[in-house]
Amino acid sequence: MNKLHVATVASLLALAAATAGAVTFDATNTASNTPGGQRFDQAVGVNYAKQVLSDASTFIWNTFNQRSPADRKPVDAITLVVEDIGGVAFTSANRIHLSTQYVGNYSGDVKTEVTGVLYHETTHVWQWDGQGKANGGLIEGIADYVRLKAGYAPSHWVKPGQGDRWDQGYDVTARFLDYCDSLKPGFVALLNAKMKGGYTDDFFAQILGKTVQQLWKDYKAKYGG
Ligand SMILES: *[C@@H]1O[C@H](CO)[C@@H](O)[C@H](O)[C@H]1NC(C)=O
Ligand SMILES: [Zn+2]
Repeated sequence: MNKLHVATVASLLALAAATAGAVTFDATNTASNTPGGQRFDQAVGVNYAKQVLSDASTFIWNTFNQRSPADRKPVDAITLVVEDIGGVAFTSANRIHLSTQYVGNYSGDVKTEVTGVLYHETTHVWQWDGQGKANGGLIEGIADYVRLKAGYAPSHWVKPGQGDRWDQGYDVTARFLDYCDSLKPGFVALLNAKMKGGYTDDFFAQILGKTVQQLWKDYKAKYGG
């Protein structure tokens, strides 16, 4: 194609993306020279990872009942950087960082594990955080709730009914949110929507008619706790 034609196609594509409110997904591995980076390239790969970012985003919009882009957080690009860091992964704004040290040391099906981690981290990109005031355990619980509903809960997670506090975070809170959603399907979507403007534990009572403490007692009682 000649240069003019390429430029025209590029600007048409950019226009189409802008009008559709499309989101772009990108992934790079900056640590392909490390054992974990090599394992990422062999077992997962940047193309698969990009597809997961896209699939996870669609799944999250459905889970949050955000049918149109106007309902969603205004994000136009999500980037995954696979890098030589400790820990597992973290998300800052619209950038997800995945640890090759974690990938290198993981024992088991690393592709499935990375997929689950990416569902969790992609949720952080899209979820509302109560203008920074939301309970941190709830934020992590919602991210793991999405991972659970997508079918990527690891076998080592707590079972339903386990845990000491509703806002313990991660799997404990995810299981509790799953219980709350069973009382009123769409609960998590309503909770996330309320978290756009601020945060109070009273959101649970506003949606379900019971305080979060009472819901936690009911939940524990259901499982004999
Ligand atoms: C395993 O984890 C340690 C500590 O983070 C790291 O130094 C090491 O490189 C990792 N091993 C692999 C194979 O990635
Ligand atoms: Zn998290």
